[in-house]
Amino acid sequence: MTNIMRVVPVDKHEEIAVAAYVARGYSVEEAKLGAKTSTMATRHGIRTHNLIKAIHLDDHLGSCGAGDGSSPAKKRKLDQIGCVPNAQIEKIPTKYKAFERWNCNRKLGQAVAWEAMETCMKLADEYGVGCVAVDNAFHYLWGGGYVMEAAKRGYVAYTCCPAALTEVVPFGGKIPTLGTNPHSWGLPTQDAIGYPIVVDWATSVVAMGRVQQLKREGKPLPECAGVDKDGKYTTDPNAVAALVPFGAHKGYGLALIDELYAAFTGGSTPTIRNRWGETPAAGEKQTCTFYFQCQKADAFSCGDFAQGRNQAENVKAVIGDVIGHGNSACMLPGQIEANAAKLCDEHGGLLFSEAELAELSAMAKTHGVAFDTSALKQVSVPDPFAMAMKKDIKVLLTTTSYQDTPGEHHALLEKSGFEVVRARGPLPAADMLKLVQEHGGFDGFLNGDDEITTAVLDAAMTAKRKLKVVAKYGIGLDSINVDHCTANRVPVLFTPGVNHTTVAEHAMGLMIGCAKHFWLHMNSVKNGGWKRKTGIELAGKTLGIVGMGRVGKELIKRCAAFEMKAVAFDLYWDDKFAKEYGVERAATKEDVLKIADVISLHTNLDDSTRDMINTKSIAMMKENVILINTARGGLVNEADVAEACSKGKLYGYGADVLCHEPIASPHPFQGVDNILLTPHIGSRTGESVQRQACRATTNLVQYLTGGKDFIQANKF
Ligand SMILES: NC(=O)c1ccc[n+]([C@@H]2O[C@H](COP(=O)([O-])OP(=O)(O)OC[C@H]3O[C@@H](n4cnc5c(N)ncnc54)[C@H](O)[C@@H]3O)[C@@H](O)[C@H]2O)c1
Repeated sequence: MTNIMRVVPVDKHEEIAVAAYVARGYSVEEAKLGAKTSTMATRHGIRTHNLIKAIHLDDHLGSCGAGDGSSPAKKRKLDQIGCVPNAQIEKIPTKYKAFERWNCNRKLGQAVAWEAMETCMKLADEYGVGCVAVDNAFHYLWGGGYVMEAAKRGYVAYTCCPAALTEVVPFGGKIPTLGTNPHSWGLPTQDAIGYPIVVDWATSVVAMGRVQQLKREGKPLPECAGVDKDGKYTTDPNAVAALVPFGAHKGYGLALIDELYAAFTGGSTPTIRNRWGETPAAGEKQTCTFYFQCQKADAFSCGDFAQGRNQAENVKAVIGDVIGHGNSACMLPGQIEANAAKLCDEHGGLLFSEAELAELSAMAKTHGVAFDTSALKQVSVPDPFAMAMKKDIKVLLTTTSYQDTPGEHHALLEKSGFEVVRARGPLPAADMLKLVQEHGGFDGFLNGDDEITTAVLDAAMTAKRKLKVVAKYGIGLDSINVDHCTANRVPVLFTPGVNHTTVAEHAMGLMIGCAKHFWLHMNSVKNGGWKRKTGIELAGKTLGIVGMGRVGKELIKRCAAFEMKAVAFDLYWDDKFAKEYGVERAATKEDVLKIADVISLHTNLDDSTRDMINTKSIAMMKENVILINTARGGLVNEADVAEACSKGKLYGYGADVLCHEPIASPHPFQGVDNILLTPHIGSRTGESVQRQACRATTNLVQYLTGGKDFIQANKF
């Protein structure tokens, strides 16, 4: 999957964030820590915890704008807001040296969290472990960020807290009495795999932040993630009233752990938490709590690692085993975040969707920060999740029109997670062979008219990575040794029914071009001349079709509108179509050649059709016949056709295909004005390329991933 995103510079993002927090009455220091969290979350692809969510939360449950007093909601008394700007952390004395307990007096959660993690690390340096329990807190947003930071500095870190509001129904219940509580672990695995493993869970299938995100993007929730006001499952983000724990009773148990940590710390009954507009029973508390913990990685070591490995090497060996045994393409927690950060770094800023950007821009405007969104770079980036789910499947993509035409097919291929090697076809057999050898083989080809000969197939089928499928982007299979594929049970997939209208339009164009001497006239006018040659009219003429398949039929339909009669020959006769369009059935293809004024070839190329138009068959034709070929060059003897055109036996030849493409100079067609040629682009329109490319991609992906939605040409 590819996302179109805009790149917001980090400095500008932080300027907006600081302005938004300061306007709410927070100190610059608090504002900077709030900004740091939002920047980090966005950089790591945690789009549910970006600045928009942070400020949204502050508006609804936090300071409620207590600092600027500009709206009625902002007139709330201090004891009716969840977050108090400029509050001070109060350290409560304790007998435990490695454990601190704080009353943070509803200080901004992010500012408390950064300080608490820092304290845990200091304590761990001294005692091997450090813990901080925080009472009277306001939600700190992205737990993953704090543990990731600690893990990067060599600590095993953990944090949890009850979420701001109870929005999750306990397993088997109806009423939301639990939060979408986070559990976040960070492990210093960067030496082993390049990034820290971060297990950052909300205990529901999705959190409310995700629901907001889906609402913003107009997308549905996953199945069985939320319920409506009547307790019924819904995927509509606008109808969701409560969330469901993931893993049924297991996610419920994890959510309960956070509530109990909170209960041990000082948190009160969950259902009144942060319900600031409602009056709780006298003496009740509505704040939440935090728990932070860091351990030095070396404090864990019992020293007895197998095969003389040290601790770091042992961690690497364990991860290697987990994602070994054919699991090498498996995702590791933290990888998605690392991928997102890589994408941001590559593009030099933070990635925002258009919808997010609109909200960020509105925020900038509210706080008087100049923010010209029109100047922001737009980029197309892969989905960090799909990147992490790369499958151990490698394919060769050679078709150029596929690669050069924008459209959904790119996202479809990206989403597959396959490794894609790209080359620009059509490639001769030697180049195909070279690619197979260089890459140790491919699981599949997504090819155009490349030469897939016996030698190419043998090399691909015996390579280390064995060829499993040939997915032709198109319908003509003559450049593939299909029999050899069949004999080796390699399916050849193709894309019938996606480009017949486009090719028929092209045949029409060539027909008109020949009838009106387009080549001669266009050349003359562009070169300052005014040559004028009388053409012929198509109305009333007989169209002869050899091969009344998909393209042939579409051409007949179009020619009917030109008042042309049709006569056709096909090995299989579609009587219903013929009756509907008044097509006369010829007994042989020769009969078509004898009767028609305009002949259009639409058969496949095989030994029975190769060279079917030659001096002998041209001699059967009437004088001044226009011959059109959008099927395959090999259907005609090119030298014979050139001669017939030069001598005036044929009125013109319009072709989109050649025996050998591209044209090999010198060629008998060169210099013959009544021969019109196009470079095999009959099916190349934006519409058709996308249909064809999506079909070919679906064929390939479905076949290689065990799906059923593919179209196979060589049944076995
Ligand atoms: N120029 C391009 O970009 C382009 C694009 C698509 C297709 N094509 C070519 O156009 C041709 C037709 O495509 P289509 O989608 O209509 O295919 P199709 O399979 O629908 O039609 C081919 C028809 O030819 C008939 N046929 C086969 N052998 C025959 C024979 N010996 N005598 C008479 N009829 C015979 C078949 O019965 C079938 O009805 C193919 O050769 C294809 O490769 C070219």
